[in-house]
Amino acid sequence: MAHTYVNSVDGLRRELTHLKSLDKSQARTMPSAFYTLEGFHELEKDQIFRRQWVCLGHVGEIPESGDYFTTELVGEQLIVARDKAARIHVLSNVCRHRGNIVVEGRGNRRSFTCQYHAWTYDHDGVLKTAPLMKTVKGFDAKNCALPRLKSEIWNNFIFVNLDGNAEPLAPQMAGLEDVLRNYHHEERNLLFTDEAIWGTNWKNLTENFMEGYHLFATHPQTLQPMTPTQLCRKLPGAAAWTAYRAYYHPDFPPRGPFHMDMTEAEKNNSVLFNVFPSFVISVAANYTLYLCLRPAGAERVAIRWGIAGLKEDPEDPEVAAFIELCKSFNGEDREKLETLQMAQNTRYYQPGPLGPEDLEGTIWDFLNYMAKNLGSDVELTT
Ligand code: FES
Ligand SMILES: [Fe+2]
Repeated sequence: MAHTYVNSVDGLRRELTHLKSLDKSQARTMPSAFYTLEGFHELEKDQIFRRQWVCLGHVGEIPESGDYFTTELVGEQLIVARDKAARIHVLSNVCRHRGNIVVEGRGNRRSFTCQYHAWTYDHDGVLKTAPLMKTVKGFDAKNCALPRLKSEIWNNFIFVNLDGNAEPLAPQMAGLEDVLRNYHHEERNLLFTDEAIWGTNWKNLTENFMEGYHLFATHPQTLQPMTPTQLCRKLPGAAAWTAYRAYYHPDFPPRGPFHMDMTEAEKNNSVLFNVFPSFVISVAANYTLYLCLRPAGAERVAIRWGIAGLKEDPEDPEVAAFIELCKSFNGEDREKLETLQMAQNTRYYQPGPLGPEDLEGTIWDFLNYMAKNLGSDVELTT
C-alpha cells in the first residue's frame, strides 16, 4: 500500500491508534511530523506535560534550607525550593500582585522578593510582606500565596504534576523498585549538573537515550567498548515506564565502587529507564546519569542533566573522568539528533521498521504510551 504523507494532528492521532493494533513483531516508527508539527506539540503540552509527572531535577541541587532553583515547564515559570523544615516545594514563580517573575536563577535566600514592588514570599509560597498594602480594604495576605504545585520526590528526583490530578508516582514505579533496590540510589550523591538546549524534539532524545541499537554506530569509542549494543537486554516495562539492561563487555574492568548489597549479577550491567514522558536515566553499577527533558518548542529540547554516585568529591579523578565520558557521548548523541531533526522536516520519509526488541523494544513501549494518551480513540479532556 502506498504510504500517505501525514502532516496533521488528526492524522498523527489516527496513526497512533493504528499503532496500538500492531503486534510487537510489526513494531515501527511514527511519521516524521510526529517530531515537527507545532499543533501536535501543543497537544502534547496540554495532554501530557500538564497532566503527568515530569522530573525537574535532583534533590542534591538544593541541599540546604533556603536553596532554590527556577525552571520552566510548558510555559509555566516555577521555583523549586527547600524550606526551613527541609521540605521541598514547587511553586509558581509568578507574583500574586501584578504577575511578574518573583525570582530568577538559583541560589539561597531567606525569602523570595519580587523585584517589581517587593512583595515577599516564604519558601512554601506564603506571602510574608507586601509594602504599603495595609490601607487597601479587603487585602488579605493569606489569599495571596504563590500556588504550590503537586510534587513528589522519588529516588532523590523532584517530580511535578502541573494539573494536580496525577496518581501518586511511587506506586506506579513499584516494579522498577525491585530492579533498583540493591543499587541504593538514595545514597548516591549529586556530583555534577548542567543545562543545555539541543535542536531536536524531546521525543527524539527520549527514544535515543532508551535504545541500545545506536551504541555501536554512534558511540564506537565511548560506549560500545563498555556497553556493546549486542549485550543490551530489554526489561518488561509497565504503564509508567520502560527499561533495559546494558551489560558490560566482559573485558571491561569492574565498574565500582559498588554498594555492598549489590549482587554479582547486578555489578555487570547498567539499568536504563524512561519514566514517561521525559525523564531518562542510566543507573550504572557505579554512577547515575540522568536527563530531565522539557520541551522547548516542537524542535528544541531543554535538558537538565546530572551525575550522582557513592563518591562524595566531584574533583575525584574517577568522577571527573566519568563526567568527561558523559560529555563526549552526549556530544555524539547531539550531533545525530540534530541531523535527525533536520531530516524529519521532509515529505518523503515513511515509517520504518524498529530493530529487535532488546534494542528498540523500549521505543515501541514509548510509542504505545504516546498512543494511549493521544490516539484518535482517546477522548481528550480540556
Ligand atoms: S508584580 Fe510582584 S510585587 Fe508587584
Ligand atoms: Fe547515545
